[in-house]
Amino acid sequence: MTTLQTENGKNLNLQFDIVGYIVGESKPYRADIIAFRPLAIGEYLYMEYYDYKVLAMVSTSITGSPVITDSLIDPRDIERLIKSIRYGERMYYHRGSIKILGSINGSSSKLYMPPIPPPPGTEVYKAPKSALAKVFSQNGREFIRIGTLLRELDVEVRVNINKIVSRHLGILAMTGMGKSNLVALIAKRIAELGGTTIIFDYHGEYSSMRPPNIIVNVVKPKINPLSLDLEEIARLLNIPRNATRQRMALRECIENMDEGDFFMKLKKCLQGRVGRYGVSAQKVLDSVIAYEGFLKRILNEKIEDIVNSIILGAINIVDLSDLHLNQADAIVSHWLSRVLEARKIDVWSNGSQGIPSPLVLVIEEAHIFISADSDTATRRSAESIVREGRKFGIGLIVVSQRPRGLDPTILSQLGNLAILRIVHPEDQQYVAKHCEPITQDIVEELPGLNIGEAILLGEWVSVPTIAKIDLVKEKLSGGDMDAAFYWSKTFSARTENLGM
Ligand SMILES: Nc1ncnc2c1ncn2[C@@H]1O[C@H](COP(=O)(O)OP(=O)(O)OP(=O)(O)O)[C@@H](O)[C@H]1O
Ligand SMILES: [Mg+2]
Repeated sequence: MTTLQTENGKNLNLQFDIVGYIVGESKPYRADIIAFRPLAIGEYLYMEYYDYKVLAMVSTSITGSPVITDSLIDPRDIERLIKSIRYGERMYYHRGSIKILGSINGSSSKLYMPPIPPPPGTEVYKAPKSALAKVFSQNGREFIRIGTLLRELDVEVRVNINKIVSRHLGILAMTGMGKSNLVALIAKRIAELGGTTIIFDYHGEYSSMRPPNIIVNVVKPKINPLSLDLEEIARLLNIPRNATRQRMALRECIENMDEGDFFMKLKKCLQGRVGRYGVSAQKVLDSVIAYEGFLKRILNEKIEDIVNSIILGAINIVDLSDLHLNQADAIVSHWLSRVLEARKIDVWSNGSQGIPSPLVLVIEEAHIFISADSDTATRRSAESIVREGRKFGIGLIVVSQRPRGLDPTILSQLGNLAILRIVHPEDQQYVAKHCEPITQDIVEELPGLNIGEAILLGEWVSVPTIAKIDLVKEKLSGGDMDAAFYWSKTFSARTENLGM
């Protein structure tokens, strides 16, 4: 039995369950353990050595046998062995390695790393709930519940939402593992606090979400062409970056553009520039004619500034589901730049103009929009947000099922991570290489996670946390389709019609 001393010096007299002992050589941040029972990955343990009261997490778990070894090649030998072992005799050993998370320090929820390793023979206990709650279930306005500890379902996991705004967040996992559910949960919690989220919804899966007492504002993805800058229009018209004369002709026309039929005026202006810019103006004109139909789906002169369509305190969903990738890229990029501008204006004008409060932007399918290989418009705008967002209160959540396709610069600047199951070795290695908070031993755990189970890393948690994320029942779309169910319905309708 051991006791845990609280801040005011009172002993809690907790009866701890002994799990095993430290063995072999240990380091201040990791140690090996021989246990009485199998160790569960992600399980939290507690030790006391010198004056440190230390929390640790199981990172490797091995069960083996000194008797039933792999040198036995005949299963009948194993059968004979099992029969001859006396009742109650130990056939197995359980060992593992533990990651030392830090020492509990008075009433603070922050852990600090002891500079000394645990000596061999140190008793290792199951971590008491009170100690876990102190670290994982912090109170305060900025802490939001996103689930429970995976191995201690009655200990809440509360993360620091302010850190998402200041250091951004990456939600990475293979498909169907619960990324969008976590997005919906975070957006719901932010709205419960009165905060604003904007989700760029490429698959149209959030529009039907209806959490109680929360406004869900579905926005049509249209932009006013007069609010586009040269770079944005040039991209939409597919004008290469090095086509200087084409861009000059386009610039002159855009700068002189006023209200009215945008495409008609642009074409007329470009025709007038053929004299000065020759074939360059003609090429831009050809592009306008070629892309006009496609662009009219997203550009409309009657649309107000997109900033006016944001509802503060709501979950804003920009439904991109009907758009082609290039169109969606233009829309997301424009939103990102406008939101950043509007937040800057607010900060610089001391709140008299612009968007008056911090917000969180979510980019789903980020490996497409913020791709490592292609120079998308969104990648550039996202870079500015990741770099400057902190100062102006804009948090970016980057969601991807193909992390190896993500731009490494942006990935390396995400200060918080929620990583669900990832099996592909290239994805694992890419994440380990570019994301600072993740280490090799964590990468090895990723294939062992199930749906909705996440490793949380970075500043939004006090220590690496393996959590079971809450399911958002109000967001039902996005799950796997039960094809057999639909087929059986069609089948019974057909047999009925045929009078069978
Ligand atoms: N925390 C959770 N607890 C229980 N079930 C969950 C959880 N998260 C997700 N699921 C289940 O898994 C399904 C898929 O989840 P979700 O759509 O969030 O996955 P995803 O990672 O976004 O997939 P995709 O890569 O296809 O976008 C959900 O419909 C839900 O049934
Ligand atoms: Mg999803």
